Amino acid sequence: MNMLVAFLHHLAAFTIVSTLLAELVLMYQPFSLASAKSLRAIDAVYGLCAMLIIVLGILRVMYFEKGPEYYLHNPTFMLKMTAFAVVGLLSAYPTIIFLRWGKSLKQNQLPELTPRQAQNIKSILKLELAGVAVILLGAVLMAKGYRF
Ligand code: HEM
Repeated sequence: MNMLVAFLHHLAAFTIVSTLLAELVLMYQPFSLASAKSLRAIDAVYGLCAMLIIVLGILRVMYFEKGPEYYLHNPTFMLKMTAFAVVGLLSAYPTIIFLRWGKSLKQNQLPELTPRQAQNIKSILKLELAGVAVILLGAVLMAKGYRF
């Protein structure tokens, strides 16, 4: 069970990175009905994996790894959780924009995306990817037993 949870945690982590990169690449393509639909679908996968990784993460903290005592008093775990929370908050803006497109997309109409919104989304996706790099640093440090 420990291996399965660890495997699913990695799978969710890699999928999160892949969805962020896919959204960023799509945001640099000419905006179209197809790219708008893809962005919404990819962002839904991102959201699902973020929820899954929280559940799997809690299972690993509480039951499958070094025990809650180790993590809940470890600054590297706190670094990881803080970076995860920041990435989660940052992701709200693109998600809200993509969700607003629902009505237009149902009518097969190109939704509104202002140049300002497009630039904000690109910047936020880059910040999220930088945040995931901090999460990974925290993940490795805590897994290897490093303490500040
Ligand atoms: C985007 C979010 C996340 C990513 C990319 C991520 C990534 C990783 C990686 C790569 C490892 C393996 C580290 C290693 O063995 O060297 C790991 C381990 C772990 N992660 Fe995550 N993780 C994320 C979110 C979370 C969350 C939200 C929690 C807790 C609620 C969590 C708890 C854990 C635990 C307990 C381990 C095992 C560490 C150990 O072996 O002692 N992770 N994570």
